[in-house]
Amino acid sequence: MAGMERRAPSSRAKGDAVLPRASGVTVRPAVVADVEAMAEMINAYAARGEMLPKSLNQVYQNVRDFVVAEQAGRLIGCGALHVLWGDLAEIRSLAVEEAFRRRGIGSQIVSVLLHDARELGLPQVFALTFKPEFFQALGFRVVDRESLPRKIWVDCIDCVRFPQCDEVAVILDLEVVT
Ligand SMILES: CC(C)(COP(=O)(O)OP(=O)(O)OC[C@H]1O[C@@H](n2cnc3c(N)ncnc32)[C@H](O)[C@@H]1OP(=O)(O)O)[C@@H](O)C(=O)NCCC(=O)NCCS
Repeated sequence: MAGMERRAPSSRAKGDAVLPRASGVTVRPAVVADVEAMAEMINAYAARGEMLPKSLNQVYQNVRDFVVAEQAGRLIGCGALHVLWGDLAEIRSLAVEEAFRRRGIGSQIVSVLLHDARELGLPQVFALTFKPEFFQALGFRVVDRESLPRKIWVDCIDCVRFPQCDEVAVILDLEVVT
């Protein structure tokens, strides 16, 4: 699965500043020692309304879903692939530390999670996100949230935003490895 160093895409950041692509970034499976740092990063963004909060308990219980991006031993990003059914998985809790954004790290994390999804034989991966543009840049398409199967709403019911959620659903069809 994850663990190898992955080259950042060659595209450049938008806006006036041209940020260098991050080098020496490794994406690897998370271990329990990463949990506090992951929860801190996720909840810092959640406090700003950019993503949904996660308790330490939730991150520990789902630690096998997560990969982390690190540079020189420092955790600078994370993301999770959560299998919901035989034909569907969700990308969750994707976060890249502020100073490292727009350097291809989020794309690296998603690429590792999609690799895992293919290896598991999953034909589709979706995300609920406030940043559809990021996922669209990776080939996901925006779909009506109501078109997603009911089982995805199990977690939503516990969310503080339910039922007034303004997250956008994006989905990607995968070529299954046989
Ligand atoms: C969304 C997030 C994970 C993206 O990570 P990242 O490392 O900055 O993304 P990348 O550098 O790989 O971006 C790849 C492409 O996605 C698009 N993109 C990324 N962030 C974008 C944004 N905020 N707005 C519009 N397009 C964006 C761009 O096309 C970008 O390519 P470019 O920089 O060459 O123009 C990061 O911004 C983040 O942690 N945000 C806060 C938490 C969050 O919103 N998580 C997603 C919830 S599911």
